[in-house]
Amino acid sequence: MKTTFKIFTLILVFTTFLFAQNKQIEKKIDDLLKQMTIEEKIGQLTQYSGDRSATGPVTFKGDHKELIKAGKIGSMLNVLGTNYTRQYQEIAMQSRLKIPLLFGQDVIHGYKTTFPIPLAEAASWDLEAIEKAARIAAIEASASGIHWTFAPMVDIARDPRWGRVMEGAGEDTYLGSRIAYARVKGFQGNGLGNIDAIMACAKHFAAYGAAVGGRDYNSVDMSERQLWETYLPPFKAAVDAGAATFMNSFNDINGIPATGNKYIQHDILKGKWKFDGFIVSDWGSIREMIEHGYSKDLSEATKQAILSGNDMDMESSAYRNSLAELVKNKQVPMNIVDEAVRRILRKKFELGLFDDPYKFSNPERERKELNNPEHREFAREIAKKSIVLLKNEKQTLPISRNVKNIAMIGPMAKVTKDNHGFWSVTIPELNYDKFVVSQFDGVKNHLGKDTNLLYAKGCDIDCKSNEGFAEAVETAKKADVVILTVGEAWNQSGEAKSRSNIHLPGMQEELIKAVKATGKPVVVLINAGRPLVFDWTADNADAILYTWWLGTEAGNAIADVIFGDYNPSGKLPMTFPRSEGQIPIYYNHFNTGRPAKDDKNITYRSAYLDLSITPKFEFGYGLSYTTFQYSDLKLDKKKMEMTDKIEVSLNVTNTGKYEGEEVVQLYLRDKVASVVRPVKELKDFQKIKLNAGETKTIKFTINKEKLSFYNAQLNWIAEAGEFDLMIGSSSADVRLKDTFELVNLNYIH
Ligand code: NOJ
Repeated sequence: MKTTFKIFTLILVFTTFLFAQNKQIEKKIDDLLKQMTIEEKIGQLTQYSGDRSATGPVTFKGDHKELIKAGKIGSMLNVLGTNYTRQYQEIAMQSRLKIPLLFGQDVIHGYKTTFPIPLAEAASWDLEAIEKAARIAAIEASASGIHWTFAPMVDIARDPRWGRVMEGAGEDTYLGSRIAYARVKGFQGNGLGNIDAIMACAKHFAAYGAAVGGRDYNSVDMSERQLWETYLPPFKAAVDAGAATFMNSFNDINGIPATGNKYIQHDILKGKWKFDGFIVSDWGSIREMIEHGYSKDLSEATKQAILSGNDMDMESSAYRNSLAELVKNKQVPMNIVDEAVRRILRKKFELGLFDDPYKFSNPERERKELNNPEHREFAREIAKKSIVLLKNEKQTLPISRNVKNIAMIGPMAKVTKDNHGFWSVTIPELNYDKFVVSQFDGVKNHLGKDTNLLYAKGCDIDCKSNEGFAEAVETAKKADVVILTVGEAWNQSGEAKSRSNIHLPGMQEELIKAVKATGKPVVVLINAGRPLVFDWTADNADAILYTWWLGTEAGNAIADVIFGDYNPSGKLPMTFPRSEGQIPIYYNHFNTGRPAKDDKNITYRSAYLDLSITPKFEFGYGLSYTTFQYSDLKLDKKKMEMTDKIEVSLNVTNTGKYEGEEVVQLYLRDKVASVVRPVKELKDFQKIKLNAGETKTIKFTINKEKLSFYNAQLNWIAEAGEFDLMIGSSSADVRLKDTFELVNLNYIH
């Protein structure tokens, strides 16, 4: 009783404190707004890129510093480091009202210490680790003068041709929402105002991942159902986690560019979801509405953007050039401008920048935090967890340390920058070779003096000739086992890196064939920013590890897995197609009226004549060095009321000889509903660790929320009826099944 009272009092004191603080902030904003000229207000809505790197087409050639001094720029991106940010902040402090600048940066998968690309991290299915990676990224970025990351990207992506799949959590809405939540929490830590918290930015709002044909920046044509059911939930999760900012997107949605889309920004995000942060445009996306054919000129684009809820203008110079005139001509009410300014100032206050604009510019902290050994240790930890074992014939892996001769072959063996992958922060002084552990070095670090590590490059990533194959084959012949490492270069997946052909680039698969012909056991490592197509390799290699782009500690982490110091536990967050012709392919599709049950029965069925109906590797797939047995599925009841819940339990036993982790996945299917439901949908999962021989009981709870969906009127409801419950090791490898019934009349909340 006493403790409850104490907790209650503490919560009350804290809420009262927050309430008073917020009131104070709003009052300070009122005072500032009264003093600001229209130019100064527009300044707060204006953001430009500095010269440390260009993450888009630079259009502004003027002098930023002069504009900052005049109070005409409120935020910069691509200005980083304590010294450089301080220099800029000092200029802002010379402006009339001394409103501090906000420094934003694409801190996508780490800052100086880099982690696996977000898609790879998603393969870990380890929410705690994902949150921690974002936390460390924030610690480093904030120590380097940064206030704000343009992350997480929470776009659902079902098309691996789209280069930006590397930046998100993959194809699934449930997994994507859980990860969105974790990443926002990680970046924002204990809340804005803390020295190591940076603002998160959920992007790209909205539906950017559904660009037609997987071509970047392309149009999006999408039903309301699909939007609400598949693409919006991760954004809602970001709001629930307290994301301070949102970024809109380059695409149009059903003909209306997202940047000028009132429905998306004003009605849904700021209205229905009550988001109190601010929205920044994507780079130049206000101006690009002219190119879309939605705005006749920059002035109209400005009006459309601000009236639909876009608060800050990144790099378009639209607000700076046109907004004052629009206000003067009463085409944009002043209170709309004030509201946008208020949202931005609020965050500057919350960050504590008005108390100390140089708060994040402390070189001593920068020296201590960047590349801190603890951060690197964790980078290795999460990199190991992100690796997916796709194949392991005759227990080729793990490789014993007693092997006499190991050959490392392939263009990825000695690379460093490519391990980082796309969207690593451009730190000008960074020497990749010194700073990033190559795969060759990682393997070497693991071997004693009795093992020879041989090497041949074989070919370049994009090679057009087989010149180096002979040397590779000779090297392979001298070895007991070959580690063949292939993949994409750092700039072959990412923004504007869509590819129509997603096979291994160049002649790398030919190299694998040549080496495999030696008869030596071949372990293939595939380093990439997206699911690739590598059918021959999948069918013929002895073992395959999908190693994505793993960051600073790639080499060590990969070697940890190769030699069995870590038992791989990753599961694919995206379906891997057999060929580009299957795209889009995802596990949670509808059944159709003529489903093909298997490849032999496709006459008058929904199938391709020339391709299997199954993907090469399904969503949720990933092997381990050990094996897991699922048993004893129990439901505490087979019928539940709308307000009720079902407790599900099952046992998982590690039946192999290694300690290992398993992601136990729970899928549901609503068998008959007022709108067609997917064949299965992920609704829960648990990642567990088991010693060899150990059994654990896993529990899940099924409640109405897990059974709900958007009906024809787009109401979120659960309907009475039968549900299939499927629990397994992947979306296709269902080990235990049951059915249960939801009873009651239709229920709308
Ligand atoms: C364009 C990208 O779409 C966006 O994600 C990124 O944050 C900005 N450029 C800034 O670099």
